[in-house]
Amino acid sequence: MSPSSPDPGRPLPAPLANLRELGNPLEFLYLDHLQEREICAVLDRISNALAVDPDDVSDVLAFLREVLPFHLADEEEDLFPLLRKRCEAEDEIDKAIHRLLSDHSHAAEDTPDVITILERHAAGGCELEEGERMALKQYASHARRHLVLENAIILPIAKLRLNEEDLDRLRHGMLERRGLGRLWDSPHTG
Ligand SMILES: [Fe+2]
Ligand SMILES: [Fe+2]
Repeated sequence: MSPSSPDPGRPLPAPLANLRELGNPLEFLYLDHLQEREICAVLDRISNALAVDPDDVSDVLAFLREVLPFHLADEEEDLFPLLRKRCEAEDEIDKAIHRLLSDHSHAAEDTPDVITILERHAAGGCELEEGERMALKQYASHARRHLVLENAIILPIAKLRLNEEDLDRLRHGMLERRGLGRLWDSPHTG
């Protein structure tokens, strides 16, 4: 889980406006999704390969270990609570978030198995066993389904409903989680 979780009730450190130059945090979530989609394609390639490419394996392992945990925490600890706070009843956001959290917990159960399979093939050169192939394909397929829901529904609703301060909170949480919260302490000269 993430090393830091901002308290939504706590006043944000100033000057937040300066950090807006870092961009819209929703765009970072879109970029994570783009990368996740590419990783799904690599998982399929590994599943189908007669000789697994070790670079493919290391790309997926890096994503699963270093990118995905932060991304899941960004959504669970910052994005989803903000959406729950801002959305209208007509958005039916609770239902969608419930589904997404269930996907996340299934992914959390499956990710260690996928990592184990990939570690077994870290040197590359061999073909996967049938069970391993199925596990990787299923993982990629679930991840793709999840991405469709987030890209088609969650992020567009977030764009519509979250205000500037909400985006500041989201940006703040994402930076702190990555150990970049100290940016707030630096004098800004721009
Ligand atoms: Fe996501
Ligand atoms: Fe997600």
